[in-house]
Amino acid sequence: MNFILSEEHLAVQQAAREFAQMELLPGVIDRDEHQVFPIEITKKMGEMGFLGMMVSPKYGGGGMDTISYVLAMEELSKIDASASVMMSVNNSLVCWGIETYGTEEQKLKYLTKLATGEIIGAFCLSEPEAGSDATSQHTTALDLGDHYVINGTKNWITNGSSASVYIVIAQTYPEKGHKGINAIIVERGTPGFQIGPKENKMGIRASDTHQLMFTDVKVPKENRIGEDGFGFKFAMNTLNGGRIGIASQALGIASGAYELALKYSKERKAFGKEINKHQAIAFKLADMATQIDAARLLCFKSAWLKDQHLDYAHASAMAKVFSSKVAMDTTIEAVQIHGGYGFVKEYHVERLMRDAKITQIYEGTSEVQKIVISREILK
Ligand code: CAA
Repeated sequence: MNFILSEEHLAVQQAAREFAQMELLPGVIDRDEHQVFPIEITKKMGEMGFLGMMVSPKYGGGGMDTISYVLAMEELSKIDASASVMMSVNNSLVCWGIETYGTEEQKLKYLTKLATGEIIGAFCLSEPEAGSDATSQHTTALDLGDHYVINGTKNWITNGSSASVYIVIAQTYPEKGHKGINAIIVERGTPGFQIGPKENKMGIRASDTHQLMFTDVKVPKENRIGEDGFGFKFAMNTLNGGRIGIASQALGIASGAYELALKYSKERKAFGKEINKHQAIAFKLADMATQIDAARLLCFKSAWLKDQHLDYAHASAMAKVFSSKVAMDTTIEAVQIHGGYGFVKEYHVERLMRDAKITQIYEGTSEVQKIVISREILK
């Protein structure tokens, strides 16, 4: 077992770290405050290759492994989790889904643009009454011969107003339960497709989260991804990889908060010495470092399994449930170490604490991850 990163991995990590410092750090507080994510930054992320990292070069992607993706996600998430969720959804849920299960026509038409960031995508599974219980899809995709007609509402959709391509999960044969669900590509601007107002969120405030409404949206049959009725399996398989992305995001939020707390602990003096010379603070830092290292190992393990084409469903669930808890715990402690300064925006840790919470909720709550893990260990 080799724990040393390769030259290529170190180069990806360094490039992501520099990008985060140069392009994401300036304005991150303002973007959080005003809930905006400028398209120019998305374009730069695309130019850097962050939006289609694992896509084959044949379709315009970086052809990298999942470890590289974890490294880049961690570095960007240290600074701006709103940027990294957009990156994670585009890479894991949209590009991977189309590359793995799409037709050659879908890959040439959509993936080539998604992988370079020319356009970005969204993944539409959650509904007002179907979050964790994802089989209970109320959105319908009526089969009318050469096309589907989609009706329904999707909630909490990342990249909701900025995407050009939406993968919509919808029920075609209600009597078949989860085996009657389809995954269908809907283009922005299709008549009947409406984008609701932006959600005013506690964290990842700059990320573009919307409700989407579909009223008699007509979509050609060739936009279905995979076999008829494969939509639920498509969603589950895609989310298994998405969870590696969100686990890495949580890892980055935690390590970003830890680095800020460590730095502050060396600068701030109390009772005649640097605060990290007090065990009360030193032990907090020791706990944070240990938890972060363990989270990183779980992220790497799930990424490695995926790259080896081995089963990674429960490994990615473990990485996500653990890393997101570490993100929550670490950011709370980082605020505590900063004392009163931790409570004001300029010191960044309060934003990281707010951002951490969503990693325990989206792409499956922590409770959903435990369903996935317990089913595996009990089968
Ligand atoms: N990987 C692959 N297949 C899976 C799977 C997984 N992790 N979990 C379930 N399946 C399969 C099962 O094997 C079963 O297949 P068969 O019929 O062939 O046997 C099928 O799916 C149905 O499974 P269950 O009977 O176990 O389904 P369930 O109703 O009990 O639900 C669940 C299982 C794990 C709770 C699932 O509903 C789930 O993952 N829910 C959470 C959904 C989620 O993550 N939503 C996030 C929204 S996307 C998002 O947040 C994106 C964003 O914008 C940031």
